[in-house]
Amino acid sequence: MSRTLLTWTDRGAGPPPAHHGPRPEQDRGPVLRLLDHERYYRVLVLVPEAGLRGGRELKREAEALGCTVELRAVPLTDPSDHEQLFAAVRPLVEELRGAEGLDVLLSAGTPQAQTLWVILVESGLLPARMLQVVPARFVPVPHPHPVRVVRMPVEGFPEIRALREEVVRLRADGVVRHGMVGESAAMRTLRSRMLRVAPTDVPVLVHGETGTGKELVARAIHEASPRAKGPFVACNGGAFDDGLLASELFGHEAGAFTGASARRRGLFELAHKGTLFLDEVGELSARVQVGLLRVLQEGELRRLGGEQDVKVDVRLVCATHRDLKAEVDRGRFREDLWYRLSGVVLQVPPLRERVDDLPALVARFLEEQGRPELPVAADAWARLAAWRWPGNVRELRAEVVRWCVFAEGRVTLEDLSPELRGIRPASTPTADGVRPLADVLADAEQQAVRNAWAATGGNISATARALEVDRNTVKRKLASLGLRRSPP
Ligand SMILES: Nc1ncnc2c1ncn2[C@@H]1O[C@H](COP(=O)(O)OP(=O)(O)OP(=O)(O)O)[C@@H](O)[C@H]1O
Ligand SMILES: [Mg+2]
Repeated sequence: MSRTLLTWTDRGAGPPPAHHGPRPEQDRGPVLRLLDHERYYRVLVLVPEAGLRGGRELKREAEALGCTVELRAVPLTDPSDHEQLFAAVRPLVEELRGAEGLDVLLSAGTPQAQTLWVILVESGLLPARMLQVVPARFVPVPHPHPVRVVRMPVEGFPEIRALREEVVRLRADGVVRHGMVGESAAMRTLRSRMLRVAPTDVPVLVHGETGTGKELVARAIHEASPRAKGPFVACNGGAFDDGLLASELFGHEAGAFTGASARRRGLFELAHKGTLFLDEVGELSARVQVGLLRVLQEGELRRLGGEQDVKVDVRLVCATHRDLKAEVDRGRFREDLWYRLSGVVLQVPPLRERVDDLPALVARFLEEQGRPELPVAADAWARLAAWRWPGNVRELRAEVVRWCVFAEGRVTLEDLSPELRGIRPASTPTADGVRPLADVLADAEQQAVRNAWAATGGNISATARALEVDRNTVKRKLASLGLRRSPP
């Protein structure tokens, strides 16, 4: 006796609808016929305002059967209007979310009201059982089983399956959209390709310059994939030396090498049922490449010093800023592994090729810093759009973070970093791509300094050696790039 019944009545709300046909004398209507068979703790009857009198009559008769009945008048002028009906039950659906022991009676109300219950229950919005009272005019009375529990496995309806798939797709789209800012044509293309590969298990190779958002792409693919509930594990192939990386990825058994005192599971095992993001895949040694190929081909690995194969179910997303095909041609990267990895290649465009995205990116980073209102002057915008952004979105983010610390009231030219201030808008290429030689050389020099600075982990002496210039020159160049404060 702990169940609650939910139903409609249109009794007296107008002439009986044509589909009812004449009702047999002894038929007291679906609600009372149900209450003759089932006992309810509470009965909630929805009634159009015009039918309140009929509703009260039903309430009296139901209470005579020992039920507690609550009439709920709903503002409905047309109980056959799907939209009105949905608006009318919406608050109730909110109220009953998470309820237990609910039944809805499908047999009462207009056909549209009945359909609405089915949609609400089958979509999971209303946690209820659906009941049907067998119409008296179709069956002998008394009928042996006048009340049925109705089940409609919606999966059987192709339209509903398609809708559900659409919902999954939209959810994935939301995920991909959420983290990644950018509506430029290049980003839209990238996003649609990501959505197409996300649901599959094929390895993905993400290609793009430093700071373009390769890791973000990998995360978004994971989040939008059926593996979203599983782990996302990231590993930088360039950050370890050869032996260490192999043990990091594939794990080791106790005693596999000096210092391996206990068994350790590798990142592949940690990423089981999820996604492994392998950054700088172009830096992998031949030995690690072999192990990787094996995981991709056979779905298994062997820990270092181990004798048994371990099965893993991992989706691999790799990233590189190198031209892997060229590495294959040079004999530095295995061709068979390249084939495996390059089934799907996603190209992340450099920021300078999508300056349309600057306003949205700046807005996102200002918001992240809690300064969403900080205005940027027009001439500052012009510089941002003309800059070549060698460090891409990461560089832009650092730029915005700095404004938030130093800019007062608004971002002006003076607030931009020195290299941005230093560029002349004339250095943007003309329509035929021709630029002044001095600009091209200056860009090349800046790029060389940045690359060396990054490659040496920000070490001045090592940068000077790599560039074959003296330390003071390096200091000066770094200062002009805003990578280091001016030398005293
Ligand atoms: N489209 C984007 N929208 C918002 N933030 C972005 C976008 N692209 C990149 N970022 C941000 O820029 C920074 C760099 O991104 P990420 O680390 O993914 O780049 P990467 O290509 O992996 O760089 P690297 O080659 O140096 O490893 C991160 O802070 C990231 O959140
Ligand atoms: Mg990265």
